[in-house]
Amino acid sequence: MTIHIPVLPIEVLEGMNPQPGDLVVDGTLGGGGHSIELLKRISPGGRLFGFDRDPAAVEETSGRITEENATLIVSNYADIPEQLNQLGVESVQSILLDLGLSSDQLADRDRGFSFQSDGPLDLRFNPLGGESAARLVNGLSEKRLANLIYEFGEERLSRRIARKIVRIRHDEKIETASQLARIVRSCVPRTKNQTIDPATRTFQALRIAVNEELKWLTIAMKRMPKLLTPGGRLAVISFHSLEDRIVKQALNANEQMKVLTRKPLQASETELAANPRSRSAKLRVAEKL
Ligand SMILES: C[S@@+](CC[C@H](N)C(=O)[O-])C[C@H]1O[C@@H](n2cnc3c(N)ncnc32)[C@H](O)[C@@H]1O
Repeated sequence: MTIHIPVLPIEVLEGMNPQPGDLVVDGTLGGGGHSIELLKRISPGGRLFGFDRDPAAVEETSGRITEENATLIVSNYADIPEQLNQLGVESVQSILLDLGLSSDQLADRDRGFSFQSDGPLDLRFNPLGGESAARLVNGLSEKRLANLIYEFGEERLSRRIARKIVRIRHDEKIETASQLARIVRSCVPRTKNQTIDPATRTFQALRIAVNEELKWLTIAMKRMPKLLTPGGRLAVISFHSLEDRIVKQALNANEQMKVLTRKPLQASETELAANPRSRSAKLRVAEKL
């Protein structure tokens, strides 16, 4: 079962323009919402390759996407060229990257993505690799923590938050998401029109750091265009300005790619009403010359 609602579903299909017989890549499979629609469009004869770094997502979605023309693999999207190569595939007609985390990951109380959860402060997309957020929060120096929260969370109060974290962890280890959220909230003055939880930016920063998200995105944006056939399309959905900047700059700098979305596409009022998560989604599409 997935609770994730795919964002910009119509715009993604229009942008990727999948046709019967196409080979298509979903680099961020998640709950498979976009993949299911892509599969309908490329049949008969096409093949979908779906990748996700999160083994739980691939396992769960493999139980629902059982078509024989779908191949679902646990992998970082930066490694898709090698993965396709092993399958004897050199190029594809379209690629989708729908960045960030899924509602299924957010709802999983054992992973720490939700600040309300008393689950461990983990935040890894793949819990089998890398360091958890708790390791960073309890181990980094105050200066490095402040820089990380500032750089990846664009949080003005990063120094104050880092100082408080260091003071608290001196007495007790910070082990749960809700514990960290309380610490961050206590550093941020309450304002009248607060629409997002004050802990949002700090959690975003930690998640980006733990998963090295910007590094993999930068690498993928260089590698994905090379996999496309001439006329092939790359569609990328980002959820915050740090991601969107990387996507925009990489597409503009690539002489082999023609950008089809002068301005990024955003959710309609109807979609916003049905899926509040789509509020910050920005879709950019480019075509290989
Ligand atoms: C927004 S969700 C995708 C949702 C999907 N489009 C759907 O309709 O259900 C993003 C997914 O990307 C995965 N992800 C994040 N970084 C990744 C990376 N570097 N390589 C592969 N998957 C990644 C996450 O684990 C998450 O499942």
